[in-house]
Amino acid sequence: MSPDDPFAPHPAPPAVAPHPVRTLTDPADRRRAFDLFLGTLHHGPITDDAWEAHGQAPDEHWLGVADPSGAVVGSAYSFPTRLTLPGGARVPVAAVSGVGVRPDRTRAGRLTALMRAQLTAARDRGDVAAVLRASEAGIYGRYGYGVASRADQVRVTAGAAWRPEAPAGGTVRMLDPDEATGLLPGLQERLAADRPGGMTRSARWWRRALRPAGPPAGEYKGVAVHTGTDGVDDGFVVWGVAEGDLATGGTDEVRVQQLWAAGPAATAGLWRFLTGLDLAGAVTSWARPLDEDLDLVLADSRAHRVTGRGDDLWLRLLDPDAALRARAWGPGGPVVLRVHDAFLGDTGTWRLADGAAETAAGTDPDLECAVDALAAAFLGDRSPSSLVAAGRWRELTPGARARADALFAVPGPAPWCGTFF
Ligand SMILES: CC(C)(COP(=O)(O)OP(=O)(O)OC[C@H]1O[C@@H](n2cnc3c(N)ncnc32)[C@H](O)[C@@H]1OP(=O)(O)O)[C@@H](O)C(=O)NCCC(=O)NCCS
Repeated sequence: MSPDDPFAPHPAPPAVAPHPVRTLTDPADRRRAFDLFLGTLHHGPITDDAWEAHGQAPDEHWLGVADPSGAVVGSAYSFPTRLTLPGGARVPVAAVSGVGVRPDRTRAGRLTALMRAQLTAARDRGDVAAVLRASEAGIYGRYGYGVASRADQVRVTAGAAWRPEAPAGGTVRMLDPDEATGLLPGLQERLAADRPGGMTRSARWWRRALRPAGPPAGEYKGVAVHTGTDGVDDGFVVWGVAEGDLATGGTDEVRVQQLWAAGPAATAGLWRFLTGLDLAGAVTSWARPLDEDLDLVLADSRAHRVTGRGDDLWLRLLDPDAALRARAWGPGGPVVLRVHDAFLGDTGTWRLADGAAETAAGTDPDLECAVDALAAAFLGDRSPSSLVAAGRWRELTPGARARADALFAVPGPAPWCGTFF
């Protein structure tokens, strides 16, 4: 395949990977692989306490590529999760992390071998897709991953006033670590069911998030839950604090690590609480959904500043047929869409119409795209029109893009993952 033409016919993948990939079943190998991964991110090895505290998860799938000496020089693992699609269906997905190749062994195809083994194994297990958070945007597109949701980095002035008509929210109560451990996983799982891109989290993930092993002494972690006026818990926030330098008159910065809310009232209730915290100059977050719209409810709209926008969840469809059938569709159609998967050597054609997707092999397509570019529209982040305009999708029947826009647009929250893994 020409790298310049994602629509050209593609060859079958090589039968034998140039670097043999093996499954790491021995916990000692997994720990060595995890340390290798940390090293590729320029971090030191994990401590005994942290490794113990995070625990072992039998359903994690660890892969490694070894040198002739047997030393693992590249690693990747995944854990099972369920991903919410537009319309609310949840499908089984492999959440990928721990990807790294030892710096003295890079650029020789080891990641490519790991990706091929990992994606094939996940597809064979029945995963509809794989998802990850990327360290760099240039790595994963070649393997069929595309940016399926984006997030805003925000800064809100502490003490900001709210518009009189803004939702008041309910009540907020703080939780101690044991209460948080008991309450948050179930609440997040419920809230993530309502947003495309929301994913379920493992017990191990929560252990890491709520009880980081070996934090610096005195590290602060606040946890609070929001209860709506109907008496039901409908949101929560976890935050830390970056202390300001008193010598220079600096103020503390409240850093939101997680904030999930069922709707505008819970969102407002939690942000009112955060911006009302004493001794803070600002509340910041590294990744908020694009539809949070705090500027609409604050008296001074500039008290909410978007300081950056970037990719949130990377999605790699492994079973496009199951994925296209599982998500909800808007009205109209028909549109025949052809999807090319150069990395795994597949091509498929689907007819989208009247709220459903069905296979349409042998039918001439109205639109075509590569599997990574399908990901960009799949959860609702980008419209087919914008992808055609960017050259990422190709329109073969004039006007098809507008019909596809209507089909891909489903009312509901903007896609957002909100889980770092
Ligand atoms: C990213 C990383 C895993 C790549 O491993 P690798 O074994 O060098 O990858 P490969 O040799 O299989 O590279 C395959 C292709 O991707 C390209 N590529 C690899 N890393 C890239 C990067 N960071 N940016 C852009 N392209 C990259 C290679 O040039 C190669 O391109 P080609 O097929 O056109 O020749 C490795 O560089 C690494 O460990 N980086 C630091 C840790 C990290 O970022 N991990 C990812 C966490 S999400």
